[in-house]
Amino acid sequence: MNRDITNTVKYIGVDDTDIDLFESQYIVPNGISYNSYLVEAAKIAVMDTVDRRKSAEWWANLTAALNGRTPDYLVVQHLEPDHAGVIAEVMERYPELKIVASARAVQMLPQFFEDTDFEGRTIAVGEGDTLDLGGRTLQFFMAPMVHWPEVMVTYDAKERIVFSADGFGKFGALSHSEEWACEARRYYFNICGKYGPQVQTLLRKLAGLDVAMICPLHGPVLTENLGYYIGLYDTWSKYEV
Ligand SMILES: [Fe+2]
Ligand SMILES: [Fe+2]
Repeated sequence: MNRDITNTVKYIGVDDTDIDLFESQYIVPNGISYNSYLVEAAKIAVMDTVDRRKSAEWWANLTAALNGRTPDYLVVQHLEPDHAGVIAEVMERYPELKIVASARAVQMLPQFFEDTDFEGRTIAVGEGDTLDLGGRTLQFFMAPMVHWPEVMVTYDAKERIVFSADGFGKFGALSHSEEWACEARRYYFNICGKYGPQVQTLLRKLAGLDVAMICPLHGPVLTENLGYYIGLYDTWSKYEV
């Protein structure tokens, strides 16, 4: 599936409807999506990759969205294999491309890709650091334990988008339309539920940003009534009813 989120942000993620158990343990009767995005300015950033299971479809989406251009950066917000499955191949295909990730993720990368040489290929970012795409700046905020220790989220001030990693994710492929809260809650409590205080920290960071859209790594892009979704996350992460 390929579609425009805005004029300069394209969806290049994939649905997975033939998976039985997500992370080998959670039933996903309606599948799941592995989201990935292309952010375009003078320079081009790819926001995460997808699970290896769907790499062929992702490459087709990426190539179509690039329309002959070459990406400059791959922003890795989360190293779990459902998002990091194609990192090594991307580095191979685009030898000038740099990986942008948290310092912790940069440290962890060689554990996942033993045969890849990361020397000179990574940019480690910290809290509040920015990446200049030329006329557009991405800013990074650390979100450790939402869901792994290396997680970060990304703010795009130009379009007022938060790329929220696993946060605000949902079970269910995008081709399957359903009400958000039930499967998002089941996703939240299985994936991030132990880390309420860390989710609260992330919500406080988001409260300081002017946000018009949330682009998570699973489930639909959230474009309206964001207070509703953020409110549910606030309730869930406080373990309130
Ligand atoms: Fe995850
Ligand atoms: Fe994920």
